[in-house]
Amino acid sequence: MLCNEAVKRIDAVSIISLVSVMRNEEVLADQHRELDRASAARIKKLLEERAQGKPLAYITNKKEFFSEEFYVDERVLIPRPETELLVEEGLKILEEHKEARNIVDMGTGSGAIGTIIAKKTLKEVLCIDISVEALRVAQYNARRLNVSDKTRFLCSDLFDGLRETTTFDLVIANLPYVAVDEWDGLMEDVKRFEPKTALIGGKEGTEIYGRFIERLPNRLAAGGHVLCEVGGPGQAESIGAGLRAKGFTVVSRRDLSGIERVLVGTWTHSS
Ligand SMILES: C[S@@+](CC[C@H](N)C(=O)[O-])C[C@H]1O[C@@H](n2cnc3c(N)ncnc32)[C@H](O)[C@@H]1O
Repeated sequence: MLCNEAVKRIDAVSIISLVSVMRNEEVLADQHRELDRASAARIKKLLEERAQGKPLAYITNKKEFFSEEFYVDERVLIPRPETELLVEEGLKILEEHKEARNIVDMGTGSGAIGTIIAKKTLKEVLCIDISVEALRVAQYNARRLNVSDKTRFLCSDLFDGLRETTTFDLVIANLPYVAVDEWDGLMEDVKRFEPKTALIGGKEGTEIYGRFIERLPNRLAAGGHVLCEVGGPGQAESIGAGLRAKGFTVVSRRDLSGIERVLVGTWTHSS
């Protein structure tokens, strides 16, 4: 098998499968198959890109999230497995509050959260992002998952593009939360290839969430919920405190690594 020492075997198999339009199992079962020159050259080029650190998801333009295949490229953050917890919590709230109708996926990126929520609940989800390029990817994913009729897309800085009176029953946010000083410590693949605007949340990392929380009380219907993904050191405490200071009841959920990853806020006041 054409391979490159610097590339993990499983990644190499995915790249060969992509180019030769075979399933991974077929590639593994037929390792002595002859490849035409064009395919071999293309595989070599992609293996080199992978060896230089380009994430596999950007090479194959595929990432599995919540058992669905999403299209991704460098316009969007690659959905992370820990974000599935955010979706699980959202689905739980929507199961308990069947009356909930107005749902927003804030910082939608590839649309991973909003499209899964729409697909699983058949409720309409408004997907907001400040990046028009990310929204194009999210819209494409909504078509792929057959939820175009259940998703709407808005290019906006947080809630700014909405009418002042628009409120929501559930706001799910995965906004950037990396601090400027943490940037150097991120993995090279992330720094070189993923969109910085999807990761950096300001000097402290919590500035975008700070602006978001400031606007939240006017945006939630009575009894509404907000879910925030967090992860930097001390962020569950600081962002949780910000939500409590605005009058939210807050609990946190830990991911599989034991990190407080999702804040669940309940708004019991009227907006
Ligand atoms: C951490 S990524 C999350 C992407 C996706 N929701 C996911 O979970 O994989 C953050 C997203 O928030 C968007 N974003 C950053 N600042 C924003 C703002 N002020 N208003 C709306 N979206 C913003 C970025 O463009 C990016 O797509």
